[in-house]
Amino acid sequence: MKLGVLTGGGDCPGLNAVIRAVVKKAINDYDMSVIGFRDGYEGMILNNYITLDRKSVSGILSLGGTILGTSNRADPFNFPIMQKEEYIYLDRSSELVTNYERLGLDAIIAIGGDGTMAASARVAELGVNIVGVPKTIDNDLFGTDQTFGFDSAVVTATDAIDKIHTTAQSHHRVMIVEVMGRYAGWLAMASGLAGGGDIILIPEIPYDIDEVCNKIKERNRRGKNFSIVVIGEGAKPLGGKMVVSKIVENSPDVIRLGGISNQLAQQIEVLTHLECRVTILGHLVRGGSPTPFDRLLGTYFGCEAVRLASEKRYGRLVVLKGSDIDSIPLVDVAGKIRKVPFDSQMIQSALSLGISLGVATDQISMLMKETEKAEAVATE
Ligand code: F6P
Repeated sequence: MKLGVLTGGGDCPGLNAVIRAVVKKAINDYDMSVIGFRDGYEGMILNNYITLDRKSVSGILSLGGTILGTSNRADPFNFPIMQKEEYIYLDRSSELVTNYERLGLDAIIAIGGDGTMAASARVAELGVNIVGVPKTIDNDLFGTDQTFGFDSAVVTATDAIDKIHTTAQSHHRVMIVEVMGRYAGWLAMASGLAGGGDIILIPEIPYDIDEVCNKIKERNRRGKNFSIVVIGEGAKPLGGKMVVSKIVENSPDVIRLGGISNQLAQQIEVLTHLECRVTILGHLVRGGSPTPFDRLLGTYFGCEAVRLASEKRYGRLVVLKGSDIDSIPLVDVAGKIRKVPFDSQMIQSALSLGISLGVATDQISMLMKETEKAEAVATE
């Protein structure tokens, strides 16, 4: 058999661990050959690929990023091309299929997030055999208990929060740390809990600014004259909107979030008269070496993807269920986002520890349901 592998969407630590596992298992266990497309589906459309052998994946396990390159603009059905300084969009899926057939490929291992999986589900309908592998620091891919890349991002964000803690204490300030995560609060919740945040604000729970300030004031009354606020980039105030930092016209999801913490800092300073500082971690959490957990998860995912391909079980996404590696149909995942649920360990533990989630505790469940409903209507 001959496999093609590609990495799509935003990068994250652990992608190289998957590529390495795919190549090694394919060669060692099945005597398959493997090629790697550059920059996600773009490489398949442009026939831009490299041969992957044992040598090409040697020494990459601990490397961040992806040796294949990636793109979050390579939707084969809506592919951007610059013409006279403007982008036009073309359906180039047939070129992708032609290259797949011409190269004599039996299957594609597509490593990516929701955008890549949505595109993969459509590519599969054209007769391309696909097995998906879920990545993202956001941990928001539907159907898997965890994506690889998330653990590494949590470690980086937690380290940053630990460092912010000491300067917050020295200066008696309110320090706000904003983390990525898009429309889900997994990264903010996990790093906020692990880093000992006092207030954690996530997209799933619109926050009440008075509640946030009351928590800070209450801490000061108890002699705790500093506070750490961890906020997900997709968080928004009650009745307010997410802060969009950039529109990327030629990307499947054009919205880039970021900057809500600046708005929050201004309001906190006005309402509490305390000094506030903002740190936006941004892409820092996507960089660096993968944690041992992500190296292991990536390795297990990569091996399972090749096993599924060897059994011709195509159109599936490899997932983590509890401590087991399993798989589900790709079509079940397309267009869905996994959010932090109210009954999760994360939310329940935060509440038990007295961490403020930005609204009165008895309103959280109701607000989460309302937010979910409003978002469902907005996407219909
Ligand atoms: O999906 C991963 C992610 O890092 C999100 O957390 C963030 O909103 C987005 O990608 C940033 O995208 P870009 O790399 O295009 O700025």
